[in-house]
Amino acid sequence: MEPVAKTEERFVIGGLAGARTLRGSIPVRGAKNAALKALAATLLFKDTVTLANVPDIEDIARANELLRELGVKVTRLGAHAYACTPPASQASALPPAIANKFRASIVFSGPLLARTGRVSFPHPGGCLLGARPIDLFLNGFAKMGATVGEKDGVYEIVAPKGGLTGATIFFKNPSVTATETLILAAILARGTTVLKNAAREPEISALADFLNACGAKISGVGTGEITIKGGKLLSAKKKFVTPPDRIEAGSFLILAALAGKDVTITECEPAHLLAPIEHLRDAGVSIETGKKTIRVMGASPKSPYAACDIKTSEYPGFPTDLQAPMTVFLTQAAGNSRVFETIFEGRFRYLDALEKMGAKIETCDPHRIIVSGPSLLSGRTLESPDLRAGLAYIIAALVATGESVIHNVYTIDRGYERIEERLQAIGAEIKRI
Ligand code: EPZ
Repeated sequence: MEPVAKTEERFVIGGLAGARTLRGSIPVRGAKNAALKALAATLLFKDTVTLANVPDIEDIARANELLRELGVKVTRLGAHAYACTPPASQASALPPAIANKFRASIVFSGPLLARTGRVSFPHPGGCLLGARPIDLFLNGFAKMGATVGEKDGVYEIVAPKGGLTGATIFFKNPSVTATETLILAAILARGTTVLKNAAREPEISALADFLNACGAKISGVGTGEITIKGGKLLSAKKKFVTPPDRIEAGSFLILAALAGKDVTITECEPAHLLAPIEHLRDAGVSIETGKKTIRVMGASPKSPYAACDIKTSEYPGFPTDLQAPMTVFLTQAAGNSRVFETIFEGRFRYLDALEKMGAKIETCDPHRIIVSGPSLLSGRTLESPDLRAGLAYIIAALVATGESVIHNVYTIDRGYERIEERLQAIGAEIKRI
């Protein structure tokens, strides 16, 4: 049984009033944004695919529901492992009721179109971060020979007779999910597809390495130009092992800097976090990286961290998904820090509540703010606006004086596995009610 969303749940958090007391180790789970794409990729296989280190979160439950609706047999093998067996013939409609719930649902459209010759889907759901258009996907499918239509909010894509054909596709923005979707579509296309100005996020590399081990021919991943030679259905010669979630690890890094005495983040990949680590070190945070660990020793709160500017950008730049937690960090740094969000135009919706907690923030335009610190934050009742900002609120609440209550916990459960249990283990006062 998949977990059921419990929207009425809330977190009650006791703030540390700026003290840095958390200590111990905190493990990082598998990356949501890698596991979801590997689940979509199972639609390209002729046999059973096994996935390991899959986080136990709401978005994965939704993706499994979607696969089952398409006829895939999904078997849970353990807390973090699944086996996915394709049916003899797949359905080709993504049910709107499920696809509306998470953005990664659109990634399923690529393999379905390539395998069944058609696909229909609604505008995908997900966190409200701005417009989140899907033109890059639709243009890519059209370049591969498909007919693209839309009726009553449902997109209908039909491949030409004989299937999709390889094409050269230039992305005006290096979109993560468009890159993944078109890689998956191109695996069964006739001929070669070249994706230019492609995204380089490590989750894409993890996906491509796995697919190549199973018979795909993808090269150039990690650079801006990816080439895919089309071929046959894949065969599961290898298990997909989900890489660690770099955003979860980065959020723990920020929490440890603000509220930790001596915290070690384990089961992570420090090489995927170079931009956040450099910025935090510049601000004065003491960070030691090991092979799969990051140790953070919180400085004395008497000498606050220094302000620093951040500009979000595509990997390997500073991730937009860490922008909200980093802004909480900057409320505790001395001086003025400029935050420039270049990826999404609606990613500052969490600021109002942070200001009500005592943060001093000036909004310059929908993409830029100035944070003046350090400020004393005080606990209050908060409503998590989205997954990443939800975790930023948890961090703010732990730094603040007094108690905070965070509602809309479902948005946090979408991406973080039982976050309260792992935070309790390093000494945080957080309860799920
Ligand atoms: C992925 O979203 C992640 N989601 C996001 O994580 C992450 O914030 C984002 O990449 C950036 O790193 C998943 O992997 C499921 P984009 P995605 O397409 O692929 C524009 C989280 O919390 N664009 O790379 O949807 C777009 O508006 C989530 O886990 C178009 O113009 O982001 C943006 O400005 C939130 N047309 C830019 O590209 C399109 O057709 C990059 O977005 C598609 C995107």
